[in-house]
Amino acid sequence: MNSPANLNPRPFAPRYPQLGTGPVPVSTAVDPAFFELERERIFRGMWVNLILREEDLPKPGDYFVRYLEAQGASILVVRGDDGKLRAFHNVCTHRGNQVAEEGAGHCKGFQCNFHGWTFDTRGRLAFVTDEQRFHNLDKSALGLPAVHLDTWRGFIFVNLAKRPAQTLELAMAEFNQDLKPFPFEQMVLAGRYRYAVNANWKVTMNAFQESYHGAFVHKLSVGQCISPEDPYLAVQRIKLQENGNQSVSVHLAPHELSPAEKLAFGFGATFTQGGGAAQAFPGTAQAQVRDWGFDLNIIFPYSRINVGAGWYYVDAFWPVAHDKTVYELAYYFPMPQRASEMISQEYSKIVLRDLSREDLATNEATHRSLRSGAIRQMNLSDQEIAVRHLYHTVAARCGKELAK
Ligand code: FES
Ligand SMILES: [Fe+2]
Repeated sequence: MNSPANLNPRPFAPRYPQLGTGPVPVSTAVDPAFFELERERIFRGMWVNLILREEDLPKPGDYFVRYLEAQGASILVVRGDDGKLRAFHNVCTHRGNQVAEEGAGHCKGFQCNFHGWTFDTRGRLAFVTDEQRFHNLDKSALGLPAVHLDTWRGFIFVNLAKRPAQTLELAMAEFNQDLKPFPFEQMVLAGRYRYAVNANWKVTMNAFQESYHGAFVHKLSVGQCISPEDPYLAVQRIKLQENGNQSVSVHLAPHELSPAEKLAFGFGATFTQGGGAAQAFPGTAQAQVRDWGFDLNIIFPYSRINVGAGWYYVDAFWPVAHDKTVYELAYYFPMPQRASEMISQEYSKIVLRDLSREDLATNEATHRSLRSGAIRQMNLSDQEIAVRHLYHTVAARCGKELAK
């Protein structure tokens, strides 16, 4: 459990020569015009991970509404009376009012509160008030505007493009081999957090893409998981995919446990158990990394499905504006069988909350500094190659090439 991590992981840069090793310009993180380009070239055509699972909407009539700032659209997902999940623009086909409020609920249909038009759970226009005063209204063509919906291992994704450039299965690319066997369906939602951050989505996300910061940002919360032989938590495994997806494994070597941790570790899987995980988990890099803790799996551009031994969490860095992001995470554990297991899960919930708050703590100051123009570039270590990869992939999608 406490064996020293590999102190000299092989450098990653030679494996990804297309990314170069030079400084990375910061302009794409602070420029409002570039955010508009991202909106057009990336966000509007992407498969959006809604941070929602099929089992969150188990019964016909269950629905969920989310406003996607980056895409500029309110999306309604509903399970129809035929049991099928569908997605629609949350837009009444009369004069465009919204038919449902943001959030989740259960209904028999949606009645627009402007003039009372009613849509059924399959999105069809079911009833028009005072219909005889309309001229040639073709109700069959006036259902809620449909949006593409697909699921991957129970996660619900939508795509706002008229014709998505690729299937969700293709967008998940290598995750279909690596991550697919993880037992997601055996776990249940344990909690959800949302944070508003005044920083560009990439700046926010960068703080979660490497573990070089661990010894500083997380000194107080998980300092006891950092081995003195490996003070900068040098990542041993990084996999960068051509379509922008990434997988980064974080290792942890817990030592000098506090009484609370000892208790939590003894009762079940915890977030910080590191190489002490009792059980092997398919769909993870557990077998490839010494003192493996968890894998960060980034679905380009801004959502992740992060897996550990006995838990996972799914999150998104929702772009709101060039300098505003909402970070949202939902975490899942197996249904606890005993009160003692609940204690270790509660412990993990708090650790994860503290860790994510620590990760967010540098974002706003970093964004302000980058915006000030005081520095024009970031100087990245080999350990920060996932940060480099994100900037290069985003720039390429927006028709720009970064210097190598
Ligand atoms: S806008 Fe919905 S009924 Fe008029
Ligand atoms: Fe962190």
